[in-house]
Amino acid sequence: MSAQVTPPRGNGMFRTKSVEQSIRDTEEPEHGLRKSLSALDLTVFGVGVIIGTGIFVLTGQVAKETAGPATAIAFVAAGVVCALAALCYAEFASTVPVAGSAYTFAYASLGELVAWIIGWDLVLEFALGTAVVAVGWSGYVRSLMDNVDWTMPEVLSGPDVAEGFGFDILAFALVLVLTVILVIGMKLSARVTSVVVAIKVAVVLMVIIAGLFFIKAENYKPFIPPAEKQETGGGWDAPLVQLMFGYEPTNFGVMGIFTAASIVFFAFIGFDVVATAAEETKLPQRDMPRGILGSLLICTVLYVAVSLVVTGMQNYRELSISAPLADAFKATGHPFYAGLISFGAAVGLTTVCMILLLGQTRVFFAMSRDGLLPRFFSKTHPRFRTPYRPTILLGVVIAIIAGFTSIEELATLVNIGTLFAFVVVALGVLVLRRTQPDLPRAFRTPLVPLLPIVSVAASVWLMLNLPVETWVRFGAWMVLGVIIYFVYGRSHSRMAKEGHRSPS
Ligand code: ALA
Repeated sequence: MSAQVTPPRGNGMFRTKSVEQSIRDTEEPEHGLRKSLSALDLTVFGVGVIIGTGIFVLTGQVAKETAGPATAIAFVAAGVVCALAALCYAEFASTVPVAGSAYTFAYASLGELVAWIIGWDLVLEFALGTAVVAVGWSGYVRSLMDNVDWTMPEVLSGPDVAEGFGFDILAFALVLVLTVILVIGMKLSARVTSVVVAIKVAVVLMVIIAGLFFIKAENYKPFIPPAEKQETGGGWDAPLVQLMFGYEPTNFGVMGIFTAASIVFFAFIGFDVVATAAEETKLPQRDMPRGILGSLLICTVLYVAVSLVVTGMQNYRELSISAPLADAFKATGHPFYAGLISFGAAVGLTTVCMILLLGQTRVFFAMSRDGLLPRFFSKTHPRFRTPYRPTILLGVVIAIIAGFTSIEELATLVNIGTLFAFVVVALGVLVLRRTQPDLPRAFRTPLVPLLPIVSVAASVWLMLNLPVETWVRFGAWMVLGVIIYFVYGRSHSRMAKEGHRSPS
C-alpha cells in the first residue's frame, strides 16, 4: 500500500475520508479483519443471503393481492433496479475494499453527514431484515412441527399468529444462536453457509422442475389481472405515487406490477451485503464485482422461474400467504414435495438471517472505527478477530425485535431503507468519478453518468410505490439518526479529532 497520506477533504459534516485512509485503517492490527474470502465464497455468500423470505413467503402474498401471475414481471422489474444498483455497488466495492458497504463508499465520496445517514439507514435495513427473516424462518419451522403433530402454543408463536400477546420464541432463539456463531468466526460461518446454500438452491430447483409438470395454462389467464380498488387502509396503506397523482389506490393492473415490484424487491436484498465483506476478501478488486453480479444473476433467473411455476400451478387467488411454495404442491396433491420444500426453506432462511446479521455488525463496526459511534465497539476479539462487541449487542437487540415483530410492515420498511442506500451509492459513483478521476478502479460502472442516473431514477420509482406509512416511519428513523449525529458523531468523529494523521 502506498505510504503517501492523502489529507481528508473538507471540514465539518462535509469532510470526506480519503480512500487511502479507509484502506489504511483496516491495516491496524487491533482493528483489522482477517482476509480469507474468494469470489466463489462471495457468490455463495450472496446466494446464501439473497434467496429467502422474499421468494419463499412474499411471492404468494404479492401474487394473491397485488399482481397475479404478473408477479414474474414484478421480479424482473425489481431485478433490473438491483442490477443497475449492483453495477454502481461493484465499482465502489472494488475501489474501497473495507468493511461497511455503502457507508464507507459514502464517506469517501459524499462526506461525513451523508455517510452517517447511510450507515444509520443500513442499520435499519439489516437489523429489521434479520428480524423479518427470523420470523419467516420460525413460521416454516412451526409448519414442519405441525407435520408431526407438535404444535407450538400460540403465545410463543409471535404476534402474527397469537391473538393478543405473542412472543416468537423460535425467531428469538435463532438470532441468539447465530450471534454466537458469528462471534466465533467468519470462516466457520462461511463453511456452514455453503452446505445450507446448496440445500436451499436444490429446493428452489426442485420447485421449478417438479412444478413444471403441474402447470395449467388457464391459471395464466389473465396474466395481468385488471386493476381493482384497494379496500383497506384508508389511504395510509396506499402507494405514495398513487396518492401524489391523485389516483384512487388500486391493486393489480399495470400499476399493481410496480407495487408488487416494490415489495418483492425484498427478495433481492443481500447482494449489497456482499460488498460489506470486501475487507475480508482476498482479492477484492477482482472478486467483489464477480461475487455481486454473479449472485444477483443466479437469483433473478430462479425467482422468475419460481413465480411462473407457482402461479401456473395454482390460481393466484388461491395461493397461500404463509407458505405458498409448499402449499401449491399440497394443493396439487403432492404433500411429499411440500414437506421437502418446507424443510429446505427452514434450513435456507437460517443463512439469510445470519448473513444479514453479519452485514449489520460490519456496518456498525465501521461506523465505530470512525468514531461516529463509540470506539468501544470496534475492538476486534483477540483470538477470533471478529467484531464481537457490536455482534453481541446487535444480536440481542434484534432477537428481541424478532420476538415481538410482525413480518409485513417491516419488510416494506427494510425495502425503503435499501433503495435509499442504492440512491446514495449511485450518486457516490458520479461524485467520486469527478472528485477522484484517477483512482484505480478494478471495476468501472459502464455508461457513466447515464447508468447511475437511471439507477437513481429506478430506485426512487420503486420507493414511490411503497405505502405512505412506510415513508412516515422511514422519515422518523432518519430524523432520529440526524439528531444523534449532531449530538454525538459530529464531535466524536475520528476525522474531527485527528484531522489528517499518519499511519500509526
Ligand atoms: N433477500 C432476502 C430474503 O428474501 C433478504 O429473505
